[in-house]
Amino acid sequence: MEEKYFIKTYGCQMNVYDSHRMAMMLEDMGYQKAQNQSEADLVLFNTCHIREKAAEKLFSDLGRALIIKNERAERGLKTIIGVAGCVVQAEDEQILKRAPYVDFAFGPLTYHRLPEILKQIKNKKESGVVDTDFPPESKFDFLPENKAEGGCSFLAIQEGCNNFCTYCVVPYTRGVEYSRPVEDVIKEAKKLIATGTLEINLLGQNVNSYHGEDQNGKERNLAYLLNKMAELDGLKRLRYTTSYPADVDDDLIKCHHDIGILMPYLHLPVQSGSNKILKAMNRRHTRETYIEVVQKLKAANPKLEMSSDFIVGFPGETDEDFEETMDLVNKIQYIQAFSFKYSKRPGTPAATMENQVPEKIKKERLDILQTRLFELQDKFNQKCVGQVFDVLFEQNGRHKGQLIGRTPYMQNVHAVASSDMMGKIKQVKILSATTNSLTGKVI
Ligand code: SAH
Ligand code: SF4
Ligand code: F3S
Repeated sequence: MEEKYFIKTYGCQMNVYDSHRMAMMLEDMGYQKAQNQSEADLVLFNTCHIREKAAEKLFSDLGRALIIKNERAERGLKTIIGVAGCVVQAEDEQILKRAPYVDFAFGPLTYHRLPEILKQIKNKKESGVVDTDFPPESKFDFLPENKAEGGCSFLAIQEGCNNFCTYCVVPYTRGVEYSRPVEDVIKEAKKLIATGTLEINLLGQNVNSYHGEDQNGKERNLAYLLNKMAELDGLKRLRYTTSYPADVDDDLIKCHHDIGILMPYLHLPVQSGSNKILKAMNRRHTRETYIEVVQKLKAANPKLEMSSDFIVGFPGETDEDFEETMDLVNKIQYIQAFSFKYSKRPGTPAATMENQVPEKIKKERLDILQTRLFELQDKFNQKCVGQVFDVLFEQNGRHKGQLIGRTPYMQNVHAVASSDMMGKIKQVKILSATTNSLTGKVI
C-alpha cells in the first residue's frame, strides 16, 4: 500500500510555498496526500516563530500527534513525525528535548534534503535527525520541478532578510538575503503556467530588495523581473509580496503604471505611524517617506489600494505614538490589514528593551486599531457593490454549485458557478458585501 503524508502549515505565504514544494517532493517519492492526520504515515509540521503564540501552537499540536501515533501503533502502523520551518531554525535541538518522539527536524533552508533524511530514518532506523544548517547550496537547485495546484500560485524569488527590525526573528530563521537567478524564476513561472496557473504571486520576506542575476551575471531588480514576467504567454495576474517601504524604488513604481497584469493591490507593511517607534523598530522609513511612496504609487496607478501590517504595544509606545498610527490609518485608508500585539521574541533586541507595554494596554490598542481597520475594509467592500470585477475562482463554496474566487483586490467573492469555472477568471457583478467577503453573480 502506498504511504501517505499529511502537512500542517503555520505562518506566512513563504511557508505555504515551502509546504507545497515538500508535498511535490513527497509525491515524487510515491507518497499520497492523506485526508487526515490519523491515516498519515508521515506527519510534517511546517512551523512559524514570528510570535510566541505561533510557536506554542506547535507544541500542543505535537502532543496531539503523539496520541495519534500511539493509536496507530496499536493498529500496527508506524508513523514518522517531522518538524520543518522557522521554529526548528530558532530552537534547534530544543525541539527534541521538548518532544523526543519527533523523528526529524529541519529548518527552512534545508528541506531539499527531505528524501535523504527519510531514507536515513527508514534504513538505519535512526531518529532524532536535526538539520539547521545555513547550507552553501541553494535548496532551489535541488528541488524537483514545481507544479501548479490551481489557478493561483506562489513563487519564491527571494528569501531571508538583512533588515533586522528589532522585533523580528526572520533574519535569524531564514538567514541573510538570497535572490534566485532571473532565468530560474522564469523557468518555474513557465512550468506553473503550463500546469494551469493564471496568477503568480512572487514571494520574498523582503521581495523588493530582489537582486537576482540574469544570464550574463548582471544583477537585476524586481522591476526588471516583473517586466519579464509580464511577457509570459498565458499569465493573467501578477502580484508580489512582501515589500519593504524603504526599498520601493522608482523603477518599481513605474511598473504599477506600465504593467497591465500587475494587480492594483499592494501589501506594504508600515508597522507604526510614529517616527519614534519606527526608529526604535529599526525600520528605514518615516511616516512622511511612507506617505510619499504611497502617493507616488497611487499616482502611477490611480486604482491602486493598500494593505499593511501593524504592531501595537512595541516597547516605549505611548498613547500619542498610537494616535499617530491611527492617524496614518485614516490618511492611507487601507482596504485590508493585519495587526498584532507586540510579542517578545528571544534573541531580538526589542525583547530586552525597557518600557515594555503592559498586556492590557496592548489589547486595548489592538481592539481600537482593528475596529477602525475593519470599518475601512467594510467601507471599501460596500463601495464594490454594483461593480463588475474579474474573479479568479479558487475553491468550492460552502454550498453545492457555489465557488469562491478573488477579485484583483484579494477580496473573497462567493458566486453561483459551475465546477468547470474553477481555476478560471470570470466577470462577476457584486450584489452584496460584508466586512469579510462579497457575493456576486457571474455575467
Ligand atoms: N517581511 C515582512 C513581514 C514579516 S513578518 C515585512 O517586513 O513587513 C509578518 C508580520 O508579523 C510583520 O509585518 C509584523 O507586523 C509582524 N511581526 C513580526 N514580528 C513580530 C513580533 N515580534 N510581534 C508582533 N508582530 C510581529
Ligand atoms: Fe522581519 Fe523587518 Fe525583515 Fe520584515 S523587514 S522580515 S519585519 S526583519
Ligand atoms: Fe513565520 Fe518564518 Fe514566515 S517565522 S512568518 S514562517 S518566515
